[in-house]
Amino acid sequence: MSNAAAPAREGPDRSDAPAHVAIIMDGNGRWAAARGLPRAEGHRRGVEALRRVVRASHELGIRYLTIFSFSSENWSRPASEIGDLFGLLRRFIRNDLASLHRDGVKVRIIGERDGLESDICALLNEAEELTRDNTRLTLVVAFNYGSRQEIAKAAQKLAREVADGKRDPDTIDAETIGVHLDAPDIPDPDLIIRTSGEQRLSNFLMWQAAYSELVFVPIHWPDFDKAALESAIAEFARRERRFGGLVAKTAS
Ligand code: FPP
Repeated sequence: MSNAAAPAREGPDRSDAPAHVAIIMDGNGRWAAARGLPRAEGHRRGVEALRRVVRASHELGIRYLTIFSFSSENWSRPASEIGDLFGLLRRFIRNDLASLHRDGVKVRIIGERDGLESDICALLNEAEELTRDNTRLTLVVAFNYGSRQEIAKAAQKLAREVADGKRDPDTIDAETIGVHLDAPDIPDPDLIIRTSGEQRLSNFLMWQAAYSELVFVPIHWPDFDKAALESAIAEFARRERRFGGLVAKTAS
């Protein structure tokens, strides 16, 4: 064996890892079209990418991973594609819940559950119930989620408290609104990644993204892997976060 020193390791150190990474998993359709495959195959391969990224997140020391799996606006897609996406969610929970639980993953769901089919609601509840005491990684699945809808719901709850005489309107501030959102106990994302080259938030975590670092990567979601995640984290680690002040704060 050679005595030469090992080459410097590519990619981030565990200590660079942001506590909370959120991902807009975009480009499944374009990935499929580029290969002459149906869009459904792009989404199916997207679930495989998701499995890889959950595993990589454990390994990189990420504490919270939020994924945008179905947006409030995705209802405008053809019924067959909506059926495919719901089918994949059903299969993901049925097939992967036991191994997620074994790996110490806590599953949380954000988004609107009213109006979803009862079997989907039952699966979402089962995933949250089974994994509620796990602590290694929290996987937040944004399903039937839209940030404007989430903020409007928070406003409704607060308006009701005022109407019921339980709250003085002058007590409503940014923190009060934050605690009325879907997952107030989860810290804001440090890093938001969007794949496939698009550069927008598309109604994803708009309140929580106030000081998130945004990283846009050109590759389509089915091709996303641990190396791509490491490279996004390395980009994050090069950013200086000042949160409106003058002094840089540590990366996460
Ligand atoms: C965007 O690609 C992706 C989605 C709308 C859904 C993301 C879903 C998955 C990765 C699989 C399902 C997830 C779970 C948890 C089961 P697009 O269809 O908008 O791609 P395009 O912009 O190239 O058309």
